[in-house]
This record gives sequence, C-alpha cells and structure tokens, in this order.
Amino acid sequence: MRAVLVIGIGMGAPDGLTFRAVEALGQADVFFLLDKSEGAGDLVTARQALIARFGKPSHRVVRAPSPKRAPAPLDTARKTYEGAVADWHDARAHLLAGLIATELAEDETGALLVWGDPMLYDSTLRVLERAQGQADFNIEVFPGVTALQMLCAAHAIPLNAIGEEVALTTGRNVAAATPQARAFAVLLDDGSGLAALMARGFDGHIWWGANLGTAGEVLLAGRLGEVGPAIPEARARVKAARGWVMDVWLARVAPGGPG
Ligand SMILES: C[S@@+](CC[C@H](N)C(=O)[O-])C[C@H]1O[C@@H](n2cnc3c(N)ncnc32)[C@H](O)[C@@H]1O
Repeated sequence: MRAVLVIGIGMGAPDGLTFRAVEALGQADVFFLLDKSEGAGDLVTARQALIARFGKPSHRVVRAPSPKRAPAPLDTARKTYEGAVADWHDARAHLLAGLIATELAEDETGALLVWGDPMLYDSTLRVLERAQGQADFNIEVFPGVTALQMLCAAHAIPLNAIGEEVALTTGRNVAAATPQARAFAVLLDDGSGLAALMARGFDGHIWWGANLGTAGEVLLAGRLGEVGPAIPEARARVKAARGWVMDVWLARVAPGGPG
C-alpha cells in the first residue's frame, strides 16, 4: 500500500525539526512540492534545503503548480469565501490523487512538507482525505513546531493564564468581531484584524512576532494602545527586507478589564 507522510517542518530551519520529522524525511521515496506562484522565496528554499540535507540519496522530487484559489470578498460573503476554499481543496485533492497514483509505485512512500504543524490552519490533511476518495494510500503525520509555539517561546510566556481559555482565530474573524474570550491567538492576519481591534479601543496586552524562527524575526509586546501603531510599520519593514512576512499574535484583556 502506498503511504504519504505529512511532515511538519516548523519554521523551516533544520534545528527546529523534531527527530521523528528528520527520520521521516529520510524515509520518503518521493517529495511532492506544490508550488505557489507568489514570492516567499525563503520558504521554498527552506523546503528544498531540508530535502537535500535529510532526504535519502535516491529520493525523487515531483513539482506541480498548486491550483489557484479564486479571490473572494472579505467580510461579508462568508458563503462565497467558504465555497471558494472548498473548490480549491477539490482541485488540490484531484491533483494530489493523480500525482500519488502516477508517481508512487505500490510499495513506495511519498511526503508532503507542511509549514509549522499540519493541524493548525493548514489544509493538507483535509485535502489528502479528499484525495483518498480517488487513490489508495495511507496517511501518517509527523508533528512540527507551530508559529504559535514559536511566539510563546520567543516572548517566554505561557499561552494561557491559569485556568483561562484562549480563542484561536484568524485576522478575518477578529476584523468581524472581537473574540469573546479574554485571550485570543491570531494567525493569518493581513493587518485588518489588528487594525479593527485598535479601532475598537481594545484595552489589553499584545505579544506579536513576525517571521519567527528565521533570520528576519521581529518581536513586539506591550499594551495595545502603546505598541499597536508600531506593528504595521514593523510588518512593512520585514516585508520590504525579506520579500515576505508572516505574523502571529496573542492578545489578552488587561487583568480586571472587561471580559
Ligand atoms: C496557513 S497558516 C499555517 C500555520 C502553520 N501550520 C503552523 O503550524 O504554524 C500561516 C500563518 O501562520 C503564521 N506563521 C507561519 N509561520 C510564521 C512565522 N515564521 N512567524 C510568524 N507567524 C507565522 C502566520 O499567522 C501565517 O499567516
């Protein structure tokens, strides 16, 4: 039976991989790389370097252009957005099922490298489950270190206060409404989530990090009212310097503040 290993690669640095992920990289016969056309050269280079360093000598690399997701309006058309994502997943599932069936022999092992950990805001496992409807293969997951873990480690903070819940959400959701939880961790923010929170006068603390675990890492922390204005500027500087920016943040209502 064919197998597909889904390997979490953390922030792409060799020293941030788990030992099991390194072993998994050495097991794969074929690495599937679905290229997105947009920049982020560092991210592509990081994957290629891991394969070159830890892949077995006989490994093969199969590249294919990743299907593009149709653009969808931001806040108002959730159904349209979800529909566009579902179509995109279908297209990727179809592509992967075809690659697995044609590029992997019956007893061979393929691998997909996933940024951070595959359980966090990543569609690979959903897409592979769909692809299993079109091709026969097993899935095995190797966890990686997430951007959220990197954020907490970089600031030397625990994610939750004692016994506190933490909402895990996206910039899009924060732009629509401040999460009810006293603390919320935000990924996938194009800046609109943070801008909306500041515009609402959110009174709390923020821990922010961009391009964590890479040479371009930048951190900011403090009361949102004080450090908030510096974040979009820092974000723009990282983007200009590296050609890409990914940021993650944790916000917590000030002790005694409105819950
Ligand atoms: C598609 S999600 C993937 C998350 C990933 N699976 C993980 O476990 O971290 C991409 C988002 O993760 C966050 N992210 C990924 N890499 C990051 C990094 N090096 N520094 C800061 N945030 C990062 C950003 O919020 C980005 O928009």
